[in-house]
Amino acid sequence: MSRQRALVTGGAGFLGSHLCDALLGEGWSVVVVDNLLTGRRANLAHLQNESGFEFVEKDICEPFDVGKVDFVFHFASPASPVDYHLHGIPTLKVGSLGTFHALDVAHKYGAKYLVSSTSECYGDPLEHPQKETYWGNVNPIGPRSVYDEAKRFTEAVTMAYRRYHKVDTRIVRIFNTYGPRMQLNDGRVVPNFMKQAMLGEPITVYGDGRQTRSFCYVSDEIDGFMRLAKSAEPLPVNIGNPNEFTILECAQMVLKVTGSKSQIRYEPLPQDDPKQRRPDITKARQLLEWEPKIDLETGLRRSLDYFQQAVSEEASVR
Ligand SMILES: NC(=O)c1ccc[n+]([C@@H]2O[C@H](COP(=O)([O-])OP(=O)(O)OC[C@H]3O[C@@H](n4cnc5c(N)ncnc54)[C@H](O)[C@@H]3O)[C@@H](O)[C@H]2O)c1
Repeated sequence: MSRQRALVTGGAGFLGSHLCDALLGEGWSVVVVDNLLTGRRANLAHLQNESGFEFVEKDICEPFDVGKVDFVFHFASPASPVDYHLHGIPTLKVGSLGTFHALDVAHKYGAKYLVSSTSECYGDPLEHPQKETYWGNVNPIGPRSVYDEAKRFTEAVTMAYRRYHKVDTRIVRIFNTYGPRMQLNDGRVVPNFMKQAMLGEPITVYGDGRQTRSFCYVSDEIDGFMRLAKSAEPLPVNIGNPNEFTILECAQMVLKVTGSKSQIRYEPLPQDDPKQRRPDITKARQLLEWEPKIDLETGLRRSLDYFQQAVSEEASVR
């Protein structure tokens, strides 16, 4: 039997590259399409000589065709606040035009399809924790709307291709994920705190630090994607770690695992920063028998080497 072939859009990014590893590990061949807007070749360097792995540098906002595939994993999109603020219009374009093009590939080849959506679809939620049935509280015109609304539109297009073109779709709503291959300067909590702690700089906490986040280690997140891909669930499924930490607790945990003596510095809260974010993962537990296994301290310890190396590399190019 010939190998099943998967397309991963955004495969040079943080999550996409780990997904490629998991797919290749399960015997798939993989073609990545990525324009390297926020991703890096280095994330895929270890796969260069892997049989059944291809990389195509291309912007998916233009129509594209990489030949027959059996599964489309659509992960292309700037994801961190720093990136989507910098690339607001490309973010809206990849969520809209890029999603049409990824779905067109799935439609053309009768491939299954899974798209990465986000907890940002819930905005600054009025329900806590967030179930998939909650429709969200999103500011459609605020600075974060380039991302939040792009992702809500992505979900709408996906459901439309399912209804009108019978594409076999899945939607994962990803909550904060961290681990090796994250960009060091992408403004997210874990890389920010790791870098500041490793350099002995003050750790920046926005507001009073009592806003909460839940952090999922990347291997747990990818396990959730793989299980969802194998299921037939058409409606969104939250994949994230429900253990909630205040930002201050997270800062203290980073200080503990790095052994840093950095101080904590408080700065004003950015506009529309959600106060609470925690997934309700009842659906994933029941449907996929999925449960995150890595707690925050373990995940941070597993990420130490990567962040240490990233901090040293950055220092050496200065
Ligand atoms: N990391 C998280 O915690 C998180 C949380 C929620 C949702 N997500 C979603 O998961 C997906 C991957 O996120 P990530 O953290 O790996 O981000 P990332 O920035 O590391 O990866 C995104 C990849 O998409 C590529 N890309 C962007 N625009 C493109 C285009 N027009 N054509 C081709 N490639 C393009 C980038 O170059 C990059 O390699 C995104 O869709 C994001 O919205 C991530």
